Amino acid sequence: MILVNENFGKLQASYLFSEIAKRVRAYQEANPQAAVIRLGIGDVTLPLAPACLEAMHRAVDELGHEATFRGYGPEQGYDFLREAIAKNDYQARGCDIQASEIFVSDGSKCDCANIQELFANEGMRIGIPDPVYPVYVDTNVMAGRTGAAVEGRYQGLVYLEGSAANGFVPAPPAGEPLDLIYLCFPNNPTGAVATREQLQAWVDYARANKALILFDAAYEAFIRDPAIPHSIYEIPGARDCAIEFRSFSKKAGFTGVRCAFTVVPQGLVAYAKDGTAVPLHQMWNRRHTTKFNGVSYPVQRAAEAVYSQDGVCETTQQVDYYLGNAKLIRAGIQALGLDCVGGDNSPYVWVNVKGDSWAFFDRLLHEAQVVTTPGAGFGKCGEGYIRISAFNDRAKVEEAMARIAKAIR
Ligand code: MLT
Repeated sequence: MILVNENFGKLQASYLFSEIAKRVRAYQEANPQAAVIRLGIGDVTLPLAPACLEAMHRAVDELGHEATFRGYGPEQGYDFLREAIAKNDYQARGCDIQASEIFVSDGSKCDCANIQELFANEGMRIGIPDPVYPVYVDTNVMAGRTGAAVEGRYQGLVYLEGSAANGFVPAPPAGEPLDLIYLCFPNNPTGAVATREQLQAWVDYARANKALILFDAAYEAFIRDPAIPHSIYEIPGARDCAIEFRSFSKKAGFTGVRCAFTVVPQGLVAYAKDGTAVPLHQMWNRRHTTKFNGVSYPVQRAAEAVYSQDGVCETTQQVDYYLGNAKLIRAGIQALGLDCVGGDNSPYVWVNVKGDSWAFFDRLLHEAQVVTTPGAGFGKCGEGYIRISAFNDRAKVEEAMARIAKAIR
């Protein structure tokens, strides 16, 4: 008899963004005339930067000629892209990261889920921020690293609570040490950023406890405050205790193109039960080459172009455009007398709605025809908040804020 992975039974019925899509679909079917504005899932709306588009076109043409045709590429990514990443994203910021430590992939969501295959399924204390990007929790549930949920909290996870009091940046906890720690900055969903000192505290904690940090920096391109680190590797000691995830999705509008990367430093280890240190770089390389055939050549050429002179200029302008939207959202929300954080180094504005977040989500959908994301979908500590995404056209954001103001007033 074929047995099912019963851990799936512990999950909430549907993934957060699927549930939102379902509710929006139902509303649209019942109200076909309604012009719904989507500020829910963080999906880019600007077209690809010309530098990326041109690079992709050129690469596609190469594939059409015998002399320049390519079949399978290296699973870890082409050297041209790995080198551009190491040089521009890391070495230029003083981080000691080499091209050989970069693994190119088709998305950070997959990477931060897949990386778990390197770790034991039991016996680990996993620190998960709350509120948090739901993928970290759900994928640990699927892998059987948790018990069932009790009052919205999975047994076996250690929740690192974020609140207005700690600026949504939880500090390392006292008590029994964590083994695996998820951090995401700029944060999804709150938009909070972590200072150098706050990250140093986590790195010191991880090193002292032989723990590993999984650092999600998918929104790094939105940092405008020069004092805020873009990478965990800007923090001394991080090479010994952290894996970093990055994506071209939000940085360069690649949500539909698909390209990301994971940094696994040489020398980074996890431990066998008998205490033997096992290098994670080799393990991830083994997993990656076994289960992944690499990102397509034209997509990697487009990603490489993000680092060209024109690419930097064009993609920075795009990010600035979304940050301009975020500023409008913040101002609109504050004008309504509601508190919010985020939106200055992040595309997300996190709004305290002082009530049930799904009810508020439904109210905005029905009364303003604006889609947001209910904070409760990001964990228990997200209750009472909604997340508003700045990814949309300026005119639509302005219209959405006018409608929200009308509905709330
Ligand atoms: C979000 O809205 O949180 C993100 O777009 C989801 C993702 O990147 O997978």
